[in-house]
Amino acid sequence: MSKKRGSFNSNFGAIAAAAGSAIGLGNIWRFPYVAGENGGAAFIFIYLLIIVLIGLPLVMTEFALGRSTHKNVFGTFRTLAPKTKWYLVGFIGIIGSLIILSFYSVIAGWTLAFLEFSIADSFSGVAPQQIAENFKSFINSGIEPILYMSLFLVVTATIVCLGVEKGIERYNKILMPILCLILIILSINSFTLSGIQDGMAFLFKPDFSKIDGSVVLNALGQAFFSMSIGMGCLMTYGSYLRREDNIFRTAGYVALSDLAIAILAGIAIFPAVFTYGIEPGSGPDLVFITLPNIFAQMTGGYIFSIMFFVLLAVAALTSSVSLMEVVVAYICEEFKVKRIITVTIVTLVAIGIGTLCALSQMESSQISIGGKNIFDLLDNFTSSYMLTISGFLIVLYAGWFLSKEKLRSEISINSSFISKYYNIFLFLIRYIAPIAIILVFLSKIGVI
Ligand code: TRP
Repeated sequence: MSKKRGSFNSNFGAIAAAAGSAIGLGNIWRFPYVAGENGGAAFIFIYLLIIVLIGLPLVMTEFALGRSTHKNVFGTFRTLAPKTKWYLVGFIGIIGSLIILSFYSVIAGWTLAFLEFSIADSFSGVAPQQIAENFKSFINSGIEPILYMSLFLVVTATIVCLGVEKGIERYNKILMPILCLILIILSINSFTLSGIQDGMAFLFKPDFSKIDGSVVLNALGQAFFSMSIGMGCLMTYGSYLRREDNIFRTAGYVALSDLAIAILAGIAIFPAVFTYGIEPGSGPDLVFITLPNIFAQMTGGYIFSIMFFVLLAVAALTSSVSLMEVVVAYICEEFKVKRIITVTIVTLVAIGIGTLCALSQMESSQISIGGKNIFDLLDNFTSSYMLTISGFLIVLYAGWFLSKEKLRSEISINSSFISKYYNIFLFLIRYIAPIAIILVFLSKIGVI
């Protein structure tokens, strides 16, 4: 039985799916606190440069490689570079996606739990100390985070199981506009707060003296994570693009919406942070401890907290779907296993790894590797090493090993803009992107 391979039905569907992958906890949970810790506007300025010079070309490259073969990540490298070891890059993506999916689902599970707390009105009138205590006892209960993580993975699995058009494309087309709408309402509400001026200045008035090596480094890491670069998510979605889709335009929308959502998340969060006198650089707790505090004091806080956690859960869901799809597409296509069986196996494995992550976050936890919490270990290992190494290998392959003509023809389909400025693109992926990634990598491992 030969079955037609899935593909996106429309360019809007493709953009919604890829933007859905990019826009996630990375934009709404991670971006605000990383920007907060790295000086706000100055960080955002560097982030912007990185998106245009490195992020966008990499998104285009992943799309082009995937579409040129219409295969999963492993199959893509096997087809383009037969009898070589390039397929190992595909493996990094498959293993990396599975690991990211597992720990990402733990945080996504928290968002479901916080949605439930919001609906039960458990923040209003509660003292800040108590909110922090409640968060800790939730994490330390062990079983609760595991249940919410599993629930989240089952929802993800259901969408992936339905396939490319009926699952991924259809749900992204519904969920992404909802997400935008909620975020816009939350941002508009920020303008009614007394901290609006301080919040906007923090986001948009750069103090360039704050830029140093570590700011650039953190901006690059954040850009890769946020744009879903390096793990083959975009390559897999690229393989579902139609021949007539304009890659530059599709990638451009993805990059632009990813940036816009991150900035909107900043506008939704920082004015409130300043209104209630909270430290903007308060780290990963910003969304789970700081914001509930703000909701507790704010007029309409009940509704806003529900909207906010729906937003986070939706954003996380459309990203986890893309991570699961990388692994599922590989197993289904290379081993000819049925989609539903593959999805079940992948979900069970992710629940297993996620459970270890959740257990290792408990204060009383005995589960650690070399004294380190497994969650932090996997998070660091994937975002610091796997993303950068794999992103580097992808541009290296496309820029230096893939036939120039092949790349050129794939990238310029239906885009007169790229046909005209192709050399700029080539220069970015041959020199700027790989050199920047190497510098960042070397400084991360402490060589420079
Ligand atoms: N980009 C998503 C976010 O911002 C997370 C994500 C999905 C991701 N796929 C990825 C991160 C691949 C790195 C690599 O939340």
